[in-house]
This record gives sequence, C-alpha cells and structure tokens, in this order.
Amino acid sequence: MQTTETTLKSENSSPYILEVHDLKKHFLIRKEWKIVKEQPGETKEQAEKKEQPEREVPADVSASENNSEEASAEEIPAEQTSEQPSEEEKEGEKRGGKVKLVYRKTYVKAVDGVSFNVPYGETLGIVGESGCGKSTMGRSILRLHEITAGKILFKGLDITKLKGAEMRKLRPKMQIVFQDPYSSLPPRLPVGEIIGEAVKIHKIVPKSEYKDYIIDIMRKCGLQDFYFDRYPHEFSGGQRQRICIARALALGPEFIVCDEPVSALDVSIQAQIVNLLKELQRDLNLTYMFISHDLSVVKHISDRVGVMYLGKFVEMGDKNAIFNSPMHPYTLALLSAVPVADPHYEVKRIILQGDIPSPANPPKGCKFHTRCAHCMDICKEVEPKFIDYGNGHLCACHLYPQEER
Ligand SMILES: Nc1ncnc2c1ncn2[C@@H]1O[C@H](COP(=O)(O)OP(=O)(O)O)[C@@H](O)[C@H]1O
Ligand code: SF4
Ligand SMILES: [Mg+2]
Repeated sequence: MQTTETTLKSENSSPYILEVHDLKKHFLIRKEWKIVKEQPGETKEQAEKKEQPEREVPADVSASENNSEEASAEEIPAEQTSEQPSEEEKEGEKRGGKVKLVYRKTYVKAVDGVSFNVPYGETLGIVGESGCGKSTMGRSILRLHEITAGKILFKGLDITKLKGAEMRKLRPKMQIVFQDPYSSLPPRLPVGEIIGEAVKIHKIVPKSEYKDYIIDIMRKCGLQDFYFDRYPHEFSGGQRQRICIARALALGPEFIVCDEPVSALDVSIQAQIVNLLKELQRDLNLTYMFISHDLSVVKHISDRVGVMYLGKFVEMGDKNAIFNSPMHPYTLALLSAVPVADPHYEVKRIILQGDIPSPANPPKGCKFHTRCAHCMDICKEVEPKFIDYGNGHLCACHLYPQEER
C-alpha cells in the first residue's frame, strides 16, 4: 500500500497545490418534530413546503451526518407515537385535511458548492461580508470540519476521505493562522513551548537540534531569541500574531490558510504582518489562502481574488481584473466602500439595502437578488452560472451572457 508521502510525490503532476471541487459544508442547527396539515390530494412533502418552505434538508448531506442525527424512538413523545389519532389529527380530518407529525432538520448552508484551484506559490484572497462562509471554507479545506460534499485535492492527492494517521501525517503541510492572536495562544506556556509543541509531536527535528530550530523560526518571524522563555501576556497583538505565524511555520508547511490574520490588529501593525507573510512566502515558497473582509489588505497580498456571498463565489479572477474591472454588482458595492487617499477622486458609494439573508434560508435564484439594484425577474427564479468571461475572470450574474464559452 502507498503511504501518503509517496502518493503525494507520485501524483504531484498538477500545477495546482490545491484543487477544490463543489465543496459543501452544511451545519445542522435544529431538529424538531412538527405538525403539518395535508389538504386532500396533497403529498406530505407539499404540505411541509407550504408550512415552512425554508426548512429544507439538503439531499447530499453525508451519510455519517445523517446517521448520527437519526431520530430515535425515545426522542418521540409518547402521545405523538400513539397509534390513536390525536385531537389535532381528528380536527384536521374533520376539515377535510390530514394532520401528520414530521421530523425536520434545519441546516445552515455555510459553504454551498465552491470550486477553485490554487497554483503553487500564489496567494488566493477571499473576501466577503461577515458570515458568508469564508472561515468555514478555510477550515473545511484543512479538514478541520467534516465536509458535507465535494472533493479536495492537495498536491494531487484526494484528501477528502483520509482518516486518522494518514491525515495526521499531512497536517504539518497544511496550516492555519487564526484571526485572534489573544485567544489562539495558550496563556500558561512560554513562547518556545508554544512554537515547539507540535514540532515535538510530529518529530520535525531531532531533540538535540530542537532549540536552535525554534530560535531560527522565531528570528525569521521577527521575534528576538530571549522571547523563548517569555509568556504570551507579555506581548502586544502584533508580536502575538508573529508567534502564531512562527507556530504554523515551525511545522514546515507548504500551504497556509490565513484567516483574517490582521483584522484584530492596529492599522499601523497590519502592514508589518502582511509584509512578513509576503517575505516568508518568497523565501519559503509558501502558498496562501488569505481570508479578509478588508479589500485593501487583500489587494496588497493576493495574486487572485475570490468574492464570496452566502456560501458561494460570485466573482473570481486575477487581482487586477477584480480591482480594475469588477463585473458583479456585489463586488462593485464592496469596492465602492474602500476609502481612497486622493481628495480629488470622487467615489460613488453603493449602499447595499437590507441585511445579508440567513444561510439557513437563502433566497431562490441569485442569492444576491434581495439586495441588488439591477435585479431582474429571471434573477429571482434562476441561479446564474459561474462562467469564465476570459483570462480566468469568472462571474455569476444574469447581466452577462449565460452561455458557457
Ligand atoms: N459550528 C457551526 N455551527 C453552526 N453554524 C455555523 C458554525 N460555524 C459557522 N456557522 C455559520 O455558518 C455561516 C458562515 O460562518 P463563517 O464561515 O464563520 O463566516 P465568515 O468567516 O465569512 O464570517 C454563518 O452563518 C455561521 O453562523
Ligand atoms: S444575477 Fe441579477 S440579482 Fe444577481 S447580481 Fe446579477 S443582476 Fe443582481
Ligand atoms: Mg471568519
């Protein structure tokens, strides 16, 4: 049998370090018994839909998730399992309808079918409002969430079904840096231990070389040698984020998900951390997925940019294409909110109406139609296709031809 490492080497012919195909992650947030009233000639499904159309269950939730959430007999209250019709059932039948008890599950479709590739050594920036599924996508790719559907290839290897030891072997190669450098560091461990903990577990270097190795990583991240024995509370936000980056780097990763790594930092510190990430990328040939809601930061670090809305990409392309000739109305609205330093340059701000809809009950057709100033009838019914309009500039919007090119 091939090991993970040999498989990675032998199958590494793709120009992409990461390939994601139709990835979905749906969270089960509620399960309940519900009374639905069927009218004569109506099926149970039609009655359910009429009662509460948003409570739909995705057809493709993984078998394991389904099994673990099966309702057991004990969960059904005695009176509801009774063979005798309840008062409500009798009442319903009197009115010519039939009352049924159904078991319902409600899912948040945090990531609802995304496909993309990331070439070696590049940075894919991910932007979108809070709650649109950026973090869930990043974590799902690293298999920190059990995915609902889809396929993830890392260096040509399908990691979607890898389990236990096989996945553990791969973990050092795929790392994550979190948003909050305060809560993501254990307060009772000195910096050297924090950075080195996983180095010991994964036996990255022999014991005799351990301290020198950690000090070298710390220097690369702009941390001084004597910080080795200090504790996280002694450091500022920027230094803490350097410690988080050093911790990820110590495992010798090739791909790092940076989940809003500068959002919690002062603006003056943000540039230092972004520049550090860029230097490390150049020196160590790293590939990043850089998640942020701040377009200026994404513009600075990314090669390609993906714009997410309610669990899907609405636009993706080369950084210059996205920032200089955006296509999707949502991207235009996001860009119009970016402050411009030139006082002579007038920006026409596009104010989006209403809040982002609930991912448990996304709108039909184009998910953005409830807030789009260009909404047409077709937008409310038919979901636009995510089409490449040239040079890898993809967009999902009915304002553009829907024929595949
Ligand atoms: N563990 C979870 N259980 C249930 N819902 C979740 C969970 N994690 C995230 N969500 C929901 O998934 C959606 C996307 O969340 P998230 O990926 O954190 O968005 P973002 O990072 O873009 O702000 C949100 O509606 C959030 O409430
Ligand atoms: S498909 Fe329609 S509603 Fe959606 S972004 Fe385009 S114009 Fe707006
Ligand atoms: Mg997030």
